[in-house]
Parts: sequence; C-alpha cells; structure tokens
Amino acid sequence: MKFFLDTADLSEIEEAASWGAIAGVTTNPSLYAKIGGKLSDFDDHIARICDIVGPDCPVSAESVAMDREGILADARKLAAIAPNVVVKVPTMVEGLAATRMLADEGIRVNMTLCFSVPQAILAARAGARYISPFIGRFDDISEDGLDQVGNIVSAIGGYDFADSTVGGEQVEIIAASVRSANHVTQCALMGADIATVPFGVLKKMVRHPLTDRGLDSFMKDWEKVQGA
Ligand code: G3P
Repeated sequence: MKFFLDTADLSEIEEAASWGAIAGVTTNPSLYAKIGGKLSDFDDHIARICDIVGPDCPVSAESVAMDREGILADARKLAAIAPNVVVKVPTMVEGLAATRMLADEGIRVNMTLCFSVPQAILAARAGARYISPFIGRFDDISEDGLDQVGNIVSAIGGYDFADSTVGGEQVEIIAASVRSANHVTQCALMGADIATVPFGVLKKMVRHPLTDRGLDSFMKDWEKVQGA
C-alpha cells in the first residue's frame, strides 16, 4: 500500500515528505480554502506542491466545473502546471465523459466522490487512473465506509481495465476521507492500493505506546551503562 498526504498545507507536505514514506498528495477545494488559499495563487500553489514532492509523486488538483467542457478546460490548465499533476474529477455523468476524453489525451484523472461499486466500475471504464472512495463521509451518515471500500477494491480487482486507462496503466484505488489509523489498517488488509491521509492521521500512524515505553526503557538502561 502507498500513502498519499491529503492536504494543501505546504508545511505539512514538506514535513511529511521528509519522512520518506509519502508517494503523492491529494488536494480538494475545501483543503485549499482551509489554508486560506486564493484563486489567483492556486496554480502556483499546486506547482509548489509538485516541486516539494518531486516528479515521481502524483499531485491531485480538482476541477471545479460541472459540465464536460468546463472540466476539460480546467483539466488541461491543471495538467499543464507540472507533469505529475493528476486531475480530480467528480463521479457524475459530465465527469465520466470528460474523463474518457482526458484519458484519450494522456491526462491522468483521479475520479473522486465515489461511493459505490457501480460508480467505481464506470470510472475505471471511463479511463480513470485513480478512483477515490470516501470512508469517513459514509461513516458520517451512519453507514460503513470501510465496507464500501472493501467492495470497491474487490470489484475493481476482478477485472482488467488496462485497455481503458492512460498508457495501459492499472487503475488504483485511493481510500480517501480517512479519519483514523484504524481506517488505514483496515484498508491495507482489504488490499486498497493507496490511502490518502491527513497529516494528523499520519502522525498517529507512526506512534504506538509500546514503542514509546520500549524507547524509554532502552534510554534509561543506556544511562546506566554510561554511568557504569
Ligand atoms: O480526499 C478526500 C478527503 O479529503 C475528504 O475527506 O474528511 O473531508 O471527508 P473528508
């Protein structure tokens, strides 16, 4: 499983990238608004993220258009920022139509706001390079988001979509709207390709009380060795 960072915050991205375990970044309009982002700075901001993580890490930036022509225009503009930009497109009819055209042009799409197996299969057939089922938002309406991700991973894994995607690359499932380290554990066990995690969750993933306790006892014993 790979980890993407789900944020538009440059300091979080710089810090997480320095840990050496991040393979990409996902943003969305809400995450950009959360850091006080301005429309006029948006393209530069995405370029900064691409610079920080390097050319091998995909960086998702979202189209905010509702019709296919608008999505295509957004996507071409975003894809021109850097070669590692992936365009996030919502799972809807206009999004599917635009995704097919973008895949045919060689522009990678992350199909977002995906909540069901039929939506995921349609996204894969339309040529999406990534599909992002949301966990937490399902939990928010008292349903089981992890179950949905598991179903989508199983369904997509049962077929070969290489004839639909850019350059025959395999579609990958990004578990999104991740709210806890346990979400990550369950997604890994289900075989999700990627989890995109907020920085707060990433920090919790590193920690374990037994690691802290073990480290504490090793340090104390080493002090005894130094005093001996
Ligand atoms: O990647 C999508 C994700 O950012 C949504 O998360 O917590 O707003 O549901 P959340």
